[in-house]
Amino acid sequence: MEEKQGVVKDVRLRVSADLHLSRELRGDEVEKVAEYAVSSFPSIFSRGALKDEEPRINELTVSGEKLSITVESGRRVRAHEAVKRARKALSEELGPKMGLGVRGISVKSFEVTFIGDCLREVKLPFAKKVEKIKEGMKYWLDVNESDLYSQVPDRIISLFLEKQEEHAAAREVHKIVWRSSEKPVKYAADPGPLLDEEGWVKRFYPGIWYYLQPYANLLRILENMIVEKVAKPLGFQEVVLPKLIPLEVAKKKGHLAGIPSEMLYVCEPGSREVSYFEDYTDLVKVLNEPRPEVLKQFLKEPVFTLPYAQCEPFYELFAGETLNLDNPPVKLYDRSGFSFRHEAGGLRSLERLTAFTRIEIVYLGRPEDVAETRDRLIENYLSILDKTLDMEVRSAEVTPVWMAHAGVVKDVSRNVSATFDIEAYLPFRGDRESEWLEIANASVHYDKYVDWFNIKERKGREVWTGCSGNGLERWVYAFLARHGFNVENWPVEVKRLWASYKPPIMDT
Ligand code: SER
Ligand code: ZN
Repeated sequence: MEEKQGVVKDVRLRVSADLHLSRELRGDEVEKVAEYAVSSFPSIFSRGALKDEEPRINELTVSGEKLSITVESGRRVRAHEAVKRARKALSEELGPKMGLGVRGISVKSFEVTFIGDCLREVKLPFAKKVEKIKEGMKYWLDVNESDLYSQVPDRIISLFLEKQEEHAAAREVHKIVWRSSEKPVKYAADPGPLLDEEGWVKRFYPGIWYYLQPYANLLRILENMIVEKVAKPLGFQEVVLPKLIPLEVAKKKGHLAGIPSEMLYVCEPGSREVSYFEDYTDLVKVLNEPRPEVLKQFLKEPVFTLPYAQCEPFYELFAGETLNLDNPPVKLYDRSGFSFRHEAGGLRSLERLTAFTRIEIVYLGRPEDVAETRDRLIENYLSILDKTLDMEVRSAEVTPVWMAHAGVVKDVSRNVSATFDIEAYLPFRGDRESEWLEIANASVHYDKYVDWFNIKERKGREVWTGCSGNGLERWVYAFLARHGFNVENWPVEVKRLWASYKPPIMDT
């Protein structure tokens, strides 16, 4: 049975707070402050509010040292915004007249009611109580003054809305756009175990491998082909992107919200002094074991993630900068992998890895240029895969992976498709309907990263970004699954390049 999706029709807030005055009120000051508040707050609160939705004062009392207020509101000018306005107005009005200021705000209660049918109870940060009520769902938040000023309540409300949508999470979209001709099966084994047995690769750690000869040859041939035949003809230029991603950048890219469980993290040592580690090093010597649980105590909290998408630093390059869209689009590629993933679905041979190499292709510019670049990239990939490498491939429009990485489930689609995947058929797995492996993708992100990384344009014109990646190990895997290990049976272009490499160093 299909579960009904929760739809939030309205959000109501009720906030009670004390505004602490800078000194005790004397004589008729209590009355004057109360008079001022009662007469001016309503119009101050209603600025920018929709008619009949102005924040309403529920309760207002003035005593010696504080003004206590309870405000109710809808979505637009929210109750806590009204409290902040009250503070500002009081200081501005009473400062010059009475030499009086507002020292601080204590939030006594903060209630948010989400009105709607079939709402789901979800966990929210700073929620101390939640109750299902007739109209929907009510939360009591434990927030303080600085939270009010850093938009924490607003983000909690957004998080609730997001979590309701997440539930009905858009089903994975997969629409085949193009497919090459069916190619006769000439090799029917899984290349994974053979790669290992033949000594082309050796396992170093789960999901991490040595790429020996001649595996590295083949990987480089395919890599160069992507550089020469996919990226360079479209004007892409090489750069080296950093491979330690500060948490702040991972946050802007959305990864800390979307995929915290799929990344690897890097810590700095607790001190630069070797002596600081004495207890630990002694233990390693005596026990002759690495003892990570002890080491952990000598490390600082994590500062970096390892690159997950490999394009994270690209957007940061422009963060806070002002661009000029009269200039040609920015087109760069980075072939200085690895990327790292703590794969949720488990590891598989040379196909799903912890550390993998790829050429990350990144672009930024006018929307039409970014969309055009992405489409041309897909064409170029398909052309080398189908023609030069004689592989059976297809392209599909898919749910944008970069949105999933950012934990965003809302449909962001515009009239330009977000992401296309390129998949190769793996003959040894059988069924042509289902046995395809994603080996490349290319996306446009619209203006999402421009927004999240605060990138400006001198005339305020819309800037888009895009990126395209490819798992080089997967290219090798799919290539071998199609053509096998006998070089004589390989496509001519690969054979030609193969000859120019040195023979393997390992004899197996
Ligand atoms: N950065 C994109 C991804 O992670 C393309 O490589 O899928
Ligand atoms: Zn990317």
